[in-house]
Amino acid sequence: MKALVLSGGMGTRLRPLTHSMAKQLVPVANKPVLVHCLENIRAIGVREVGIIVGDHADEIAAAIGDGSRLGLRITYIRQQAPLGLAHCVAIAEDFLGDDDFVMYLGDNVLVEGIGDAAESFAARRPAAQIMVTKVLDPRQYGVAEVGADRVVRALVEKPRHPRSDLAVIGVYFFTPAIHDAVRAVPPSARGELEITDAIQHLVTGGRTVTAVEYSGYWQDTGKIDGLLECNRVLLNRVEAEVRGRVDEESVLDGAVIVEPGATVVRSRLTGPLVVGADTVVQDSRVGPHTSLGAGCTVHGADIEDSILLDGAVLDGVRPVRASLIGRGAKVTSPPGTRAHQLVVGDDCRAVVA
Ligand code: DAU
Repeated sequence: MKALVLSGGMGTRLRPLTHSMAKQLVPVANKPVLVHCLENIRAIGVREVGIIVGDHADEIAAAIGDGSRLGLRITYIRQQAPLGLAHCVAIAEDFLGDDDFVMYLGDNVLVEGIGDAAESFAARRPAAQIMVTKVLDPRQYGVAEVGADRVVRALVEKPRHPRSDLAVIGVYFFTPAIHDAVRAVPPSARGELEITDAIQHLVTGGRTVTAVEYSGYWQDTGKIDGLLECNRVLLNRVEAEVRGRVDEESVLDGAVIVEPGATVVRSRLTGPLVVGADTVVQDSRVGPHTSLGAGCTVHGADIEDSILLDGAVLDGVRPVRASLIGRGAKVTSPPGTRAHQLVVGDDCRAVVA
């Protein structure tokens, strides 16, 4: 069994971050989403992984390398334009050969892993197996109609009038039967080769497609709300570990991680939270549910339920809530400042209290 991880695409719903970085590299609980995916793949015993990459190919290769650090062998497959999830399967055909494979959308996080789904695919070996979960608003997802014995009756991509509340999660198990199906489907109305259509083609052709309902926490991190929620859920599982320096005037409460080289001075840290390597927190209140990346500076601030990417600076600003602050971005309020002075790039959002 091999794995195909989809890490191309545009990331339009995560702008402005995705102007300068791949959405799959945005960290949750201080680990890129893509690494969470790769760890789940390794946990089911797969070692050969193809990663589809687009415009951010170099950055992804720099972060993940040849996969040896994660115990994987990685092959990068360049997609010239984001022409759809089924297009990704088509361009990976040489890499995949005659093997069964798990296809994993690189922006999906499944906190409890994919072990049960992998076992159920191995036991029954249908032509394809999808994973589904009940959602309140299925219109933004692939939607499955599932009958007795978990057999999929129909599958529609982002329907306006969904016929079930079962959303398709971004992890699929395929036999090589999917290759003919991918070749058979035309581009959809939005101009993409949809994997949903290719799977529906299998269903229509009488092949068995099954669905496994996922009961764990799943999130598509392609949007900011989802990313922050995922950060909260993952932080709720961390355990306290202080490997940096915390002075005697600081108070730590709950699951607080202080990574090596980080310094905490005269501050109150309420877990769960993580302070990244070489970050300085001084005269501040941090947490709960906050991930500070590496090399950040947090001075005289109050921040909760937020993510700071590496090298971000927060100085004299309080309170900060539900925020995502990009690499090297500075949000400051020097003494004596009387007006907001904003240098805000394309597609940014600033909500000023
Ligand atoms: O998150 C689950 C949903 O993912 C499913 O319910 C939908 O059926 C499925 O189509 C997909 O919908 P999205 O609109 O969320 O897909 P998105 O465009 O975000 O792409 C998913 C991942 O695949 C993301 O990591 C980017 C990557 N990708 C996407 C396209 C279109 C590529 O690598 N190449 C592509 O051409």
